[in-house]
Amino acid sequence: MNLCELAPEYIRAISPYQPGKPISELAREMGMDERFIIKLASNENPLGTSPLALEAMSKALDEVALYPDGSGFELKAALSRRYGVTSSQIVLGNGSNDVLELAARVFLKPGASAVYSQHAFAVYPLVTQAVGASGISVPARNYGHDLDAMLDAVTPETRIVFIANPNNPTGTLLAASAVLRFLERVSPDVLVVLDEAYNEYLPNTVKADSIGWLKRFPNLLITRTFSKAYGMAGVRVGFGLAHEEVSGLMNRVRQPFNVNSIGLAGAAAALEDVEFVKRSYALNQAGMLQITTGLRQLGIEYIPSYGNFLSFHVPGDVKAINQSLLKQGVIVRPIGIYEMPQHLRVTVGLESENRKFLKSLEIALGLSPETTSEAQPEQITAIDPEIVTGESA
Ligand SMILES: Cc1ncc(COP(=O)(O)O)c(C=O)c1O
Repeated sequence: MNLCELAPEYIRAISPYQPGKPISELAREMGMDERFIIKLASNENPLGTSPLALEAMSKALDEVALYPDGSGFELKAALSRRYGVTSSQIVLGNGSNDVLELAARVFLKPGASAVYSQHAFAVYPLVTQAVGASGISVPARNYGHDLDAMLDAVTPETRIVFIANPNNPTGTLLAASAVLRFLERVSPDVLVVLDEAYNEYLPNTVKADSIGWLKRFPNLLITRTFSKAYGMAGVRVGFGLAHEEVSGLMNRVRQPFNVNSIGLAGAAAALEDVEFVKRSYALNQAGMLQITTGLRQLGIEYIPSYGNFLSFHVPGDVKAINQSLLKQGVIVRPIGIYEMPQHLRVTVGLESENRKFLKSLEIALGLSPETTSEAQPEQITAIDPEIVTGESA
């Protein structure tokens, strides 16, 4: 027997996470010029990065010979000012993925289980399986989390319930009252991981006071990220907020320098960049309207989304349609691994990118450009919460 065959079965059974195809890869594969390719596959910010973060990160370059501040003092101080928590309640991560993994390493083990929803973010089953725990996937309702069924699925061995709000890739949002009711009913010996990676894209009218709930629920962990609305996916900074006993345990297993010095400096500055987040939000609202309007004109069904992305139903051969989009220089995300083989997920881009996506989709679907006019959103400047609707909010 060779060494790799002796690795635990639960590790060998993991199917690797499939990231969005990088622009450079498609350019190589298709012999295309990178400038003609648009990537709408990884829910990145089409506006780029917060200018304040960029400035702070370029300054931080001067000090990359030194190890980062392993305690993340400045960033934690900025986060505690912003969110009214103590520094000891914060866990910093190499992206919020890292925080999700830390939660699994602290609270799961072989014999324990984690509950998550069907179609929920792929990292939950991954981190669960990586520590030899079992995952309980609960059938979704209208593509969203069915919290009653998830509560029923909790067993005495369950140590974590993952809730993505909004969820990726479905974009569905649970109403704050529903999440609160879940927290009130679930056993306090189960950690509820409330993943709010897309929080900044929510209209204020539907935002939950989730951080306020930390005072009532010592079994709550909220995860957030600088990858999305702050435009810092490449430098990998995320964080978790929890009761200090929970964060204390997570900080014990964290690598001492898990967040790099450039990311630490950028994130602290980005938090102050309220204007950039506002612009990102407004662009996303307008782009969401542009895409949904265009899809409706093409007769394509989509799942109303609260994120910076949207999953739509593809009539016919998904592989062929995706291939046609790629040939036209448009990268979106097939989501077969989410048990949604007939859907593709598109990230909301710049106005011109959304237009190119819609036009390319029209061509990929074999719809004659003569019979279907190009999408014209009704009110591109709207920042109206009503335009983004969701099944379960
Ligand atoms: C729901 C959700 N949670 C967490 C993440 C992790 O993001 P990051 O590790 O970049 O913070 C993502 C990224 O796509 C996501 O969609």
